[in-house]
Amino acid sequence: MNTKENLLNLFLDTRKHSEALCKPLQKEDYVVQPIVDVSPPKWHLGHTTWFFEEFLLDAHLPGYKRFHNQYAYVFNSYYESIGARVVRTDRGNLSRPSVDEIYEYRSYVTKHMTQLIENHWNNSLIHVLEIGIHHEKQHQELLLTDIKFILGNNPLLPVYHNVKDEIYTSENSIKWLKMPAQIYEVGHSGEDFCYDNEQPRHRVFLEAYQISSELITCGEWIEFIKDGGYRNVMLWHTEGWDWVQKNRITSPMYWFQESNQWKQYTLNGVKIIDKTSVITHISYYEAFAFAQWKGMRLPTEFEWEAAQQQLNWGKRWEWTESAYLPYPNYQKPDGALGEYNGKFMVNQKVLRGSSIATPSNHARSTYRNFFHPYLRWQFTSLRLAQSI
Ligand code: AVJ
Ligand code: FE
Repeated sequence: MNTKENLLNLFLDTRKHSEALCKPLQKEDYVVQPIVDVSPPKWHLGHTTWFFEEFLLDAHLPGYKRFHNQYAYVFNSYYESIGARVVRTDRGNLSRPSVDEIYEYRSYVTKHMTQLIENHWNNSLIHVLEIGIHHEKQHQELLLTDIKFILGNNPLLPVYHNVKDEIYTSENSIKWLKMPAQIYEVGHSGEDFCYDNEQPRHRVFLEAYQISSELITCGEWIEFIKDGGYRNVMLWHTEGWDWVQKNRITSPMYWFQESNQWKQYTLNGVKIIDKTSVITHISYYEAFAFAQWKGMRLPTEFEWEAAQQQLNWGKRWEWTESAYLPYPNYQKPDGALGEYNGKFMVNQKVLRGSSIATPSNHARSTYRNFFHPYLRWQFTSLRLAQSI
């Protein structure tokens, strides 16, 4: 239930969790941006804080004064209707505000948000508050995967912390689930929070298909490598092949070979690849090529959703064959929040499921994650499907 007390607790827990994720970091880890897709941890801490200031405190807390008049410029990510901002490629050049200043900013905003919720509550704020909280949860996932990239691309390969199921092996045997040709309903229904891109719920017709209950393993991926998968042009999209050539891709991200053994960087340090564990850190291009090699394909996002109750999911994001597009009668919210999801509905692929980096309360069977097909620093994976 969305009572004021519940929302305040969810808000406060969410604020604490972002900071807890950063506890194992050294100050220097907070600042760097090794690739454009990875943001410095301190930027995530500031941006999620600015979001509450921009969308709630400024308009709704009487007499609210912003912590700093230039932080909107520093921490606005991509909202054109809000104004100018530090370009994404420059996030790692910001030695100021300092980490300490950003923590002060966080406590200032958390304190004022608590006042807003406790003393100036109004049910019309529920939805934006939920977006603010879930927004910070999305950034918690990015925070962890960005930390992995920052540490995992440092020559010292430092240990962060043990993250449960970062190496995950399913205990189930593979089942091929046969799904009949029929009309299915997809999309979010009910009162709980969801993003605009999960609605409206609508019908889709699916031809008969089968889908694997389990994800592909590292052992299967090693077979793909051994069979020359990364060198066989026939398995790849042109764009994927160009990406493999240009970036000299020969294995998933974080993998390397040492004394004839495949190893990987994990947040808990370097580990020998466990062949029974599920594959992760692959691009859509690689997932597609692997499915081709198996003589199969990726499921569409609707095939995934129609079968989800019988799938073992939740440890890895799963690439689907689906382009990220609006659902029929999709309504873009008014104002700057209309920029949250809708404007990215071109040239990206949908991922379904959730991952070990997804915070609690944030995974749903209708959740549509989306990334460009070449990205693989998230905990991405694949399962196979086939038309029957
Ligand atoms: C849904 C993960 C693609 O990274 O831009 C963060 C999440 N949206 N702030 C992204 C998001 C607004 C989004 N992804
Ligand atoms: Fe954001």
